Order: sequence, then C-alpha cells, then structure tokens
Amino acid sequence: MAKTTDIAADVARLGQRAEAMLAELGAISSDPSRLVRLFLTPEHRRAADLVASWMRDAGMTVTEDALGTMRGHWRPEVKKRFLIGSHIDTVIDAGKYDGPLGVVCGILAVREIAARGLDLPFGIDVLAFGDEEGSRFRSTLSSSLACTGNFDQSFLSLTDNDGITFGDAIVAYGKRVEDIPAAAYDPAHVAGYIEVHIEQGPVLEAEDLPLGVVTGIIGQSRMRVTLKGEAGHAGTVPMRMRRDALAGAAEIMLAAEQAALRSEFDGMVATVGQIEALPGASNVIPGCVNFSLEFRSTTDEKRENAIQQVKTAAQHVASRRMLEVTFEQLYGMNTTACTPIMQDQLADVISGLGYRPIRMPSGAGHDAQVMAQLCPTVMMFVRCRGGISHNPAEFASESDMGLAIVALTDFVEAFSKATSELVIPGRA
Ligand code: HGY
Ligand code: MN
Ligand code: MN
Repeated sequence: MAKTTDIAADVARLGQRAEAMLAELGAISSDPSRLVRLFLTPEHRRAADLVASWMRDAGMTVTEDALGTMRGHWRPEVKKRFLIGSHIDTVIDAGKYDGPLGVVCGILAVREIAARGLDLPFGIDVLAFGDEEGSRFRSTLSSSLACTGNFDQSFLSLTDNDGITFGDAIVAYGKRVEDIPAAAYDPAHVAGYIEVHIEQGPVLEAEDLPLGVVTGIIGQSRMRVTLKGEAGHAGTVPMRMRRDALAGAAEIMLAAEQAALRSEFDGMVATVGQIEALPGASNVIPGCVNFSLEFRSTTDEKRENAIQQVKTAAQHVASRRMLEVTFEQLYGMNTTACTPIMQDQLADVISGLGYRPIRMPSGAGHDAQVMAQLCPTVMMFVRCRGGISHNPAEFASESDMGLAIVALTDFVEAFSKATSELVIPGRA
C-alpha cells in the first residue's frame, strides 16, 4: 500500500492506537495510586513483555539484552540497522508519555513502513530501554550505554533503597552480567537513531506547533552533597554553638540557586530534588545531611564554572559553621548535538506535512545523547500540554501523536533515500 493521501485519517487512526497502547502501558505500576515503574523490577518485566507482544504483532522478531532492553527487529536478515527507541522506565509519580511515547511511535511506524511496502537499505530495530531515568539506582542511561558499548561497570555495585545491587538485580531479572558486552551494536552496522519524545517544556504549545526538531541535548552533572556537623539537643544547644548540618545545607542550596541565576541565559538550571537529614527527629539538631544537586546548561564550560562557584561557597559555609562538606559526582553527560543532516531531513518532513519546523534544544536528558556516541542521531519533540512532565498531569494529544507517527514514517523513508545514495557497507 503506497502512502495514503488521506493523512488526516492516518493521523486519527494512529493517534487513537497510540493513546490506547500508552494507557495500557501506563497502568503497569508498582504503586496503585501513582505511576512508578523502575528498572529491573516486576513492573519492568510486565511492561517489557507487553511491548514485546506489540512488536511481534507489528511483524518484528524480538530479543532482549542483558539489561532488559526489549528489541523489536523488522527485517532482521538485513545487516545494516536503523534504530528507533526511547525508555519505558519512569520517575516517581510519573506521566505515561515520557519515554513510552517513543517506543509506541516506533512500533506503529514499523507497521506503516511495512504497509507502504518500502524497500529500505536497512532493517529497523525498535528499542525499549529500561534505565533512562535512574530512578532505582543512581545510574542513568545505563541500558542505552550498553547498546553503544560504553556501559560503566561501576554501575554494578550501586545499590537501590533496599540495598540490592545493580548486579544482583540483573541476575534476579534472569540475565547475566557477563552478557552485557554482547548488547553493544557494531557502529559499522548502524545507519542512525531517532527518538520521538514529548517536549517536556512549553515552547511547542506557545508556538502552536505539534512537532519540533531537536538541535541538541543539554549537558548535566548530578552530585550528592554531604554535610557532617554534630547532632544535639534542640532545646539546650545555643544557636552560636551549633554545628547544624541542615542549616549549612540550606545556605549551600541557595548558593547553587544563585550560581544558576547568574547564568540563566545559558539555559543554566540547578535543582535539589532529594534531601535526607539525620537522625531525622524534630527535637534533634541534624548532625548529617545529604542532598542531590544537579546542574544543567547548554554550555559545558559554564556548567563546570557554576559547580566550582558552589563548591567554593560550600567551603566558606563549612568553615564558618565548623562542618565537613563533600561533593560526590554521580553522573555527568556533556551537551550533545543532533546530527545536522538528520535535523534538516526531519525539518523537511515536518514542513512537508504543513507545519513550520522549529528547531530547539532539549533541557531534558535522553537516551539519544548516548546513542549519538554510536551513530548519527536526531530527536523529534511532540507538544505536551502546559509543558508539564514528570507529573501525572503530563498529556499529549492523539492528533499530535498520530502526526508524529506519520512524520516518523516519512522520516525513515526520506533518510533511507538519502542513505541509499551512499555506499551501504554490510548490507546482506
Ligand atoms: O532528567 C531528565 O532530564 C530525564 O527526564 N531523565
Ligand atoms: Mn523523564
Ligand atoms: Mn524521557
């Protein structure tokens, strides 16, 4: 079946199907009152099995690697692969579109590609990654890192809130740590990667546009800051004699906020999302505090400068308050550009569908910034209501999702034409 001329009908049909799939997947949670689906848990298993069933229904064979990434293979006999993916793990109390939208779009686009009878110079793999958010272990992007051959072995000793190590969780999931290297693609056999994702920001809605072309993905540093002082009686220790770790932490958090505000025009943001004050009683001066601190910026140098400013301020706070302060780097990823020629091809596809193809950076991290280490990579953003994400109020409309699937299908066709003009080594 050639590409239908009734795009509106395709958009409606595909958007409706996408919403139904996302609703079914979004119901898989470890918490009945909110969406929580963590890496290598029984919920990950159920979600991956559901995704695998959709992949098979779309005519793909299915494999699963040592990190639980579910892979759907269309035309597995062709050595050269084009990759479409995103993640199926979630944050705590998540929305149902962040991640799964990219996997569902990939599966439905493969059905459309097959229905169009396209003779592509590559096969297609749809990838459902299980550890993008880093909500269970302090790792993040570990499953896409394994696909690029850059898995960090130190992840294996990380522990979750129950003291289970990453390595033990792999075994409990039925996989073997020694199989992780086999998850890596050979770059010579990968033509490219595209990820469809909700924007998680307000720009597309403000511009009244359904789709956007991502120019690059912001760099970020995630740390844990620990302050050690002295626990004491809340009623008897005079204010000037305290070594209050929580009061010191508060000063450092405000210093981080000021450092980010000084560079806000570089897209600089600083966030403290988690804090623990010990021993944690209302009538005890906290003797130890640790909190998460992450910085993101469109320029890596400015981000490093801001972090250095906070570390200097923290030393002053610590010496004045007789505290010890330590910064532990948990994760760092530099700003990653999307492949220009793929941005152009995607922009042409979006304008071919009748929309202005705006280009925009991503303030959120994505598996695409890892896949860019493997192959040419691009992202397509889909408008989300109010720019809300990491929140159960997250929402993308059926029409925008349907249009994204049509655009994804058109993109793969356009990319294949551009690619087939090149020599394709390794084609079976
Ligand atoms: O935090 C992020 O940017 C992504 O949602 N994991
Ligand atoms: Mn997210
Ligand atoms: Mn995401």
